[in-house]
Amino acid sequence: MTTIGFLACETTLPGAGQRRGDAFEHDLMIAALEPAFAARDMILTVVDWEAPLASFDGIELVMLGTAWNYQDKAPQFLDKLEALAAAGVSVCNAPDLVRWNAKKTYLRELAEAGARTIPTLWREVVTPRGALEAMETFDTDRIVVKRQVGAGAEGQELIRRGSLPDRDWTFGYPAMLQPYLPAIASDGELSFVFIDGELSHALRKLPADGDYRIQSLYGGVENVHEPSPEEAQAASTILAALPDPAPLYARIDMLRDDDGSPLLMEAELIEPYLYPEQGPQLGPRLAEAVAKRVESQ
Ligand SMILES: Nc1ncnc2c1ncn2[C@@H]1O[C@H](COP(=O)(O)OP(=O)(O)O)[C@@H](O)[C@H]1O
Ligand SMILES: [Mg+2]
Repeated sequence: MTTIGFLACETTLPGAGQRRGDAFEHDLMIAALEPAFAARDMILTVVDWEAPLASFDGIELVMLGTAWNYQDKAPQFLDKLEALAAAGVSVCNAPDLVRWNAKKTYLRELAEAGARTIPTLWREVVTPRGALEAMETFDTDRIVVKRQVGAGAEGQELIRRGSLPDRDWTFGYPAMLQPYLPAIASDGELSFVFIDGELSHALRKLPADGDYRIQSLYGGVENVHEPSPEEAQAASTILAALPDPAPLYARIDMLRDDDGSPLLMEAELIEPYLYPEQGPQLGPRLAEAVAKRVESQ
């Protein structure tokens, strides 16, 4: 028997006092993975990433799972992954790749290397005036302001020209500013789940009426999507552009521009939800890929 760790956090762990509203996604992941892993003689064990190193004794490989609070403790999280790797645990995805992926400035690198990404301004501080300047730059009346280190749409702002924030307002984090792309509400966000370099499944995520965030916490819903060859190619091109080492799992999120062509929104290599309901083969595929990595260790 091989023991595989699945990192969770204090608000996704089953039995935690205050579970997040989307902790059911943690349960769906475990339900999809556990039997598939057991079929390959691997036991899946859920561990809080903040638990002491001793809690990881006997674990051969950890997946980053549902560590959905890392964005507020990024240095500690990255240090922990490195400590685990130094202790001989195989960490998936690899700490170097996670460090690269933790700050969204990686999108600028990918854009410079030729990837089609959403146009973005990078600012350490955003004021109402900065928001207005971004609207001028993008020739639009609506912009989205996001954290450079962020997840789950946390702390994000949608700002309209007609209702700018108060003059003394500032965005509390290093930021990225983008034009609001209306396709999010009509066509939705497309996600492509890759396991060990192969496209496993794709889905379309739509926000609730009146919202623009597709996360289930805000009422977003998702459905299976059959990608066109061009879409699958666009997602694979992004995957191929990622730095080494190759990820065990990746979720490539895209949003269409006004012409309908997919633009990269983010390449989630840290703790993406992998939507097992839309990809019934996720468990067996991940189990196979993890078993391969354990064998080659
Ligand atoms: N430029 C944009 N136009 C429209 N909606 C956006 C835009 N950027 C982000 N969103 C919405 O906000 C959500 C969170 O943004 P995202 O860049 O994916 O950051 P996170 O890392 O928080 O998931 C997206 O899933 C989408 O619903
Ligand atoms: Mg996202």
